[in-house]
Amino acid sequence: MSPMFLVSILILTFIFHPALANNNLETYIVHLSLPEDRFFEQSESLESWYHSFLPRQDPPRIVHTYRHVINGFAAKLTPRELEEIEKKDGFLYARREEYSSLHTTRTPTFLGLNQNNGPWTSPASFGKGVIIGVLDTGITPSHPSFDDKAFPSSRRWKGKCEFNKKACNNKLIGARSFVDTNPPFDDDGHGTHTASTAAGNFVPGANLFGQANGTASGLAPLAHLAIYKGILVSSSAGNDGPKLNSAINEAPWMLTVGASTTDRKIVGVAKLGNRDEIEGVTLGHPNFPSTMLPLVNEGEAESKGKIVLYETPGSYLTDLEEYYKEAGAAALILMNVDYEGYTALVFRKAVLPTLSVSYFDGEKIRAYINSTSKPAVTVSFKGTFVGDKTAPAVASFSSRGPNSASPGILKPDIIGPGADIIAAWNESLDHGNPGFYIDSGTSMSCPHLSGVAALIKSAHPDWSPAMIKSAIMTTATQFNLNQDPILDQRQNLPADIFAIGAGHANPSLAMNPGLVYDIPSRDYISYLCSLYDENQVAVIVQENINCNGSEYHSLPEAELNYPSFAVELGRKSLSYSRTVTNVGNAKSTYNVKIENVPGVNMVVEPTVLVFTNVNQKMTYKVSFNRQDFTKNGSEYVQGAIAWISANHKVRIPVSVKMVNT
Ligand SMILES: *[C@@H]1O[C@H](CO)[C@@H](O)[C@H](O)[C@H]1NC(C)=O
Ligand SMILES: *[C@@H]1O[C@H](CO)[C@@H](O)[C@H](O)[C@H]1NC(C)=O
Ligand SMILES: *[C@@H]1O[C@H](CO)[C@@H](O)[C@H](O)[C@H]1NC(C)=O
Ligand SMILES: *[C@@H]1O[C@H](CO)[C@@H](O)[C@H](O)[C@H]1NC(C)=O
Ligand SMILES: *[C@@H]1O[C@H](CO)[C@@H](O)[C@H](O)[C@H]1NC(C)=O
Repeated sequence: MSPMFLVSILILTFIFHPALANNNLETYIVHLSLPEDRFFEQSESLESWYHSFLPRQDPPRIVHTYRHVINGFAAKLTPRELEEIEKKDGFLYARREEYSSLHTTRTPTFLGLNQNNGPWTSPASFGKGVIIGVLDTGITPSHPSFDDKAFPSSRRWKGKCEFNKKACNNKLIGARSFVDTNPPFDDDGHGTHTASTAAGNFVPGANLFGQANGTASGLAPLAHLAIYKGILVSSSAGNDGPKLNSAINEAPWMLTVGASTTDRKIVGVAKLGNRDEIEGVTLGHPNFPSTMLPLVNEGEAESKGKIVLYETPGSYLTDLEEYYKEAGAAALILMNVDYEGYTALVFRKAVLPTLSVSYFDGEKIRAYINSTSKPAVTVSFKGTFVGDKTAPAVASFSSRGPNSASPGILKPDIIGPGADIIAAWNESLDHGNPGFYIDSGTSMSCPHLSGVAALIKSAHPDWSPAMIKSAIMTTATQFNLNQDPILDQRQNLPADIFAIGAGHANPSLAMNPGLVYDIPSRDYISYLCSLYDENQVAVIVQENINCNGSEYHSLPEAELNYPSFAVELGRKSLSYSRTVTNVGNAKSTYNVKIENVPGVNMVVEPTVLVFTNVNQKMTYKVSFNRQDFTKNGSEYVQGAIAWISANHKVRIPVSVKMVNT
């Protein structure tokens, strides 16, 4: 087992600060291949070899040197200097830095975690002993979510802490910055939020302006945290939904997480002059009068003393709120834009009383304003409610498949809570101490899944990342609390496979999945061999690879033992195999159940799997035959394959693209 298990790792990124930009200097990550006849026993000699690639300059151009995952360095270079470096022996590949955006407590309970049943009661509960690595904007080490009362030290840990010694502890065991030489304090809040969602301690009385009050905790509150400020990519699916093909972080070794709603709502109601009531979400406002006030569209009339209806994507509007406060507006109703459909998110800064409503509800309010000469409205703030049975639903911002980089791998893999999530923050916005904040995005759903992965890892320390991911995916649900299909808030129609992947995570079931689809790391390299030439594979793997040898070969995407299918089907029938490993009872029998793919005849052989041992592997074959040729071009249909035993349902989703070949 590797010293640190990086649980699918989280989140975001953006690399270095733009302030470093100096006219035509740009930051490049330069990959090098170490000369075979040279050994670098000391890191200084490796660094001086790195420096030999660079012009002598003051201040030095090097931003970061890499030693573990890649060989090479990051440096600020002009295009001419880069050309010089490319000519040198040992140069492999250079990549310009990219900026990625930040994809931005009730959820443990909503996910079925409580202290009376489920994963939180098992012997290795709460993620004990597991280390979760978080790549984000840093952390607020003084937050009680990260104190270490009752934490033993992690003896496996060998990493660094760049805070002074007191700030790191047995909970927060490591912290590094790849941005600059300052300690990785969170000057944004995002990293504190995501780290506490994955593994924050129990902190009673967590709330924001009194709302969403409860005991905050991460999904794996006894896991240790190692924080990396700055660099690299995560596995949140992105916030560019509902556009198709908008998912990022699509590699098969990542668990790519979309975002869904929870059953908690902080409710406000707009009662229109025609007595229609429109429900929205809000942080509320103490002492807001529930009297009729004049209602206007944004920009159409003076706003003093009135309630203003404003259309804005994602309820993001910091400057506007200040503007209306200056203008003397009484309150704002923020409506989302058309492609956001039925999603409504709490507007977080709350300088003015603010109610957020969905696009469709906003349209109703607009129609009412149009219908009368003196539109008026009462806004009342109702507080926090739990039990919304339409949850989970896919938030419209959650990025969607299909996978553009690797079409044979279905993405996203899974959805988890990512709308209006309260978690620790870098400062207090409501004079409460400590600070909490409500945020939304796949950055919020991703650490939920990292927490779930940590729970599974602590119960099954010998499981590979692929087994853990399989357990999460094959036990996911496709139904909401009403037992209806999970809806996509874009139109409140059943969500498709490109919105939910395998479905909504169910941590209790994932602890004991029955069967898993494992993938040895060797197969990921063979998969890379099918996508890239050997030089490119060497850059990624940091090792020379023979893609046509005894160890590695070219493994097509669809043949990776992935817990889903994404196939392209023309006239020619296709056949693939999958291997399942028995991690349930030694003696168990599974029968196949096929959820039909319209227009495709999908046949599974054998139809029964009889296991007699734990860890026994069995392989089955799936063939796909087109039945329907009336469809033109690229249309997608979906279904699933499930293996059912007395105690388990092991389901994988299937996506088929119909093509004219
Ligand atoms: C917390 O983050 C916000 C941005 O979200 C930033 O403006 C503020 O300065 C940060 N506070 C601290 C104490 O770092
Ligand atoms: C939050 O809940 C706790 C425990 O139920 C209670 O003591 C506290 O007063 C509540 N805080 C607010 C702001 O409602
Ligand atoms: C309101 O009236 C304007 C102007 O007549 C029109 O363009 C708009 O479509 C109307 N909106 C609604 C929601 O009825
Ligand atoms: C792979 O190796 C086999 C035999 O070792 C050879 O016949 C085949 O042509 C090679 N394929 C490629 C793509 O190089
Ligand atoms: C499919 O393509 C054929 C010719 O390529 C065309 O005649 C037919 O109208 C198309 N059908 C549909 C449903 O677009």
